Amino acid sequence: MSKLVIEGGRRLSGVIHIHGAKNSALPILAAAYLAQGPCEIENCPLLSDVQAAGKILQHLGCTVEREEHTMRVDASEASGFTVPDGLMREMRSSIVFLGAIAARTGKAELSFPGGCELGPRPIDQHLSALRQLGLQICEEGGRLECRVKGRLTGCPISLSFPSVGATENILLAAVTARGTTTIINAAREPEIVDLCDFLCACGAHIRGAGEGTIVIDGVERLHGCRHRVIPDRIETATYMGAAAITGGSLLLKQVKSEHVQAIIPVFEEAGCQVAVWGDELLISAPGRLRRVHTVRTLPYPGFPTDAQALMMAPMCVADGTSVFIETIFESRYKHVCELMRMGAQIKVEGRVAVVEGVAELFGAPVECTDLRGGAALVLAALAANGTTEITQLHHLERGYEAMAQTFCGVGAAAYLQE
Ligand code: EPZ
Repeated sequence: MSKLVIEGGRRLSGVIHIHGAKNSALPILAAAYLAQGPCEIENCPLLSDVQAAGKILQHLGCTVEREEHTMRVDASEASGFTVPDGLMREMRSSIVFLGAIAARTGKAELSFPGGCELGPRPIDQHLSALRQLGLQICEEGGRLECRVKGRLTGCPISLSFPSVGATENILLAAVTARGTTTIINAAREPEIVDLCDFLCACGAHIRGAGEGTIVIDGVERLHGCRHRVIPDRIETATYMGAAAITGGSLLLKQVKSEHVQAIIPVFEEAGCQVAVWGDELLISAPGRLRRVHTVRTLPYPGFPTDAQALMMAPMCVADGTSVFIETIFESRYKHVCELMRMGAQIKVEGRVAVVEGVAELFGAPVECTDLRGGAALVLAALAANGTTEITQLHHLERGYEAMAQTFCGVGAAAYLQE
């Protein structure tokens, strides 16, 4: 089993290029199944989740080619409608294929994605919305068997919570439905806007992407297109966290600073200086960080749940006590026990975590508990006194391309050991 070994205590400095957003690339790959022609998707990160999405497309009958960060998907001849359990389990977000498969073939058979390391992840809003569009869904033995007579039919759909995945599934199902679909209380994340931009480039008619109400006028068919995936805002936040916790200075390139507007002020509150121009962001950290008052995770444009652990790691060594309130996921503090092994002082009570900054963390053997929690451990290790060995790296491989090499390039002592 491979592990990441990090000798901590080095100040990071240099330039990092941000990759394409995983959480954009995945629904866009699902959307490529709707196109009756070749799609060229640029800036796709080299990640295990993206590879899993490619495998699902191939299983459905698509031609999938990859050249560095460009994926070419041709669904012209594809007609598959089943996704085997093994492929569904490779990544939780495989559920986003449901809307695309049902819209393309009028039927879909796949397994329930189940829970995950962030706690139960219900898909009730996905299923209720797709039923409203006319999809008959039978849930039996952990499988979802779905059929539609003729075409799906557009209608107004209100979400009780602006779920990212449910909004994506509705978009995928509605773009070729008969008539107009209106999503009320839609998710406003940049990845939703990117998906809509891709679909519109394929010929879809969508208004209001990035707003609380999205209107989709169904079209007969979609064609192929070329699209470039937006930069990953959570990878951006991760490297900002690395600069902050090591008292370093990093110039991040290929950044969309408007997508990290809720994150920048929190790093500034901690004493970091952040400068933005064009697609570059420079973050410089002081010798000792200040505590931040309260970080409350919220749907976009609020502070992202995916950046909660990434901000918590620097606060472990800040001067003073910081409070985190996780409002999105039920169980997103699994990294806390591992941070405490490294000397962090954290108390968790339900959805609230209180972090009392300590003078220093020390190296220890720790395990990644989930993708962003694992990244938080890497940040802590970069600042810790001594050597940290991090295992369960498959979590990190889902969301970070070449993380160890990237950190070595800016002055960290990190290497992978088999
Ligand atoms: C997306 O997950 C992201 N994943 C997550 O990123 C991210 O944390 C999350 O959005 C919130 O921003 C991808 O884009 C692939 P949700 P998703 O539906 O779509 C509840 C990462 O680290 N809910 O907005 O699953 C749900 O249980 C990952 O990159 C229902 O109750 O998020 C959760 O508490 C992790 N019923 C909340 O809503 C539903 O039908 C937010 O979920 C759907 C969701």
